[in-house]
Amino acid sequence: MNIEILPSLLAADFGQLADEIRRAEASGADALHLDIMDSHFVPNLSFGPDVVALSKKVAPNFYRNVHLMMSRPDLYLEKFIDAGAQTLQLHIEADCDLHTEFKRVKALGAKRALVLNPETPVERLLPYLDEVDEILVMTVHPGYGGQKFIADCLPKVSYLRERKPKLDIMIDGGGNAETIPLAAKAGANQFVAGSYLFAKADMKAAVDDLRLRINAVI
Ligand code: DX5
Ligand code: ZN
Repeated sequence: MNIEILPSLLAADFGQLADEIRRAEASGADALHLDIMDSHFVPNLSFGPDVVALSKKVAPNFYRNVHLMMSRPDLYLEKFIDAGAQTLQLHIEADCDLHTEFKRVKALGAKRALVLNPETPVERLLPYLDEVDEILVMTVHPGYGGQKFIADCLPKVSYLRERKPKLDIMIDGGGNAETIPLAAKAGANQFVAGSYLFAKADMKAAVDDLRLRINAVI
């Protein structure tokens, strides 16, 4: 499986967003993770399609992975894809018909990912596994960066990896040099890290170190 590391822009210095996007790209990370929060699905607001468009403008070749923590992602699919989203991550807990929405995402030319929260049983994903390009297993309760990794979510990763040897499986929340190798061991191949990576003066060294630690356990 392709190993991918994704800095989450939520942890960037918003006073220098363009430079922070360039810094994440220059670190050698594989894609940028953009967290969209609607203050309804989660108790927080972040940013919208304009920031996705900004990241496309300043780093056109840096892949844009967009995490929709929204009750009605269906109302915004076109807006995010027009702004430059390349993978759209939709929560199974959202208030829309995901079979329909994944068809739309594909027709609009983006990749489809299904996300589940820590309290959601992994079996709920089974009817969708053949309709998505990626699964995102949340390892914190969504809404904020800088939270503690919930290791109890890792059996979901192993469960999915057993059933889908080739599917991309991502983890998001609390990722760092200690927790990301645990997720890799469980079978994840894509890793979000927000506060851990953006706090580093040398993000490239931290990304290189994460790759070494992942490769040491897989
Ligand atoms: C949580 C977001 C995460 C968050 C990760 O609601 O979906 O992507 O930005 O931040 P860290 O890595 O700091 O936990
Ligand atoms: Zn996220």
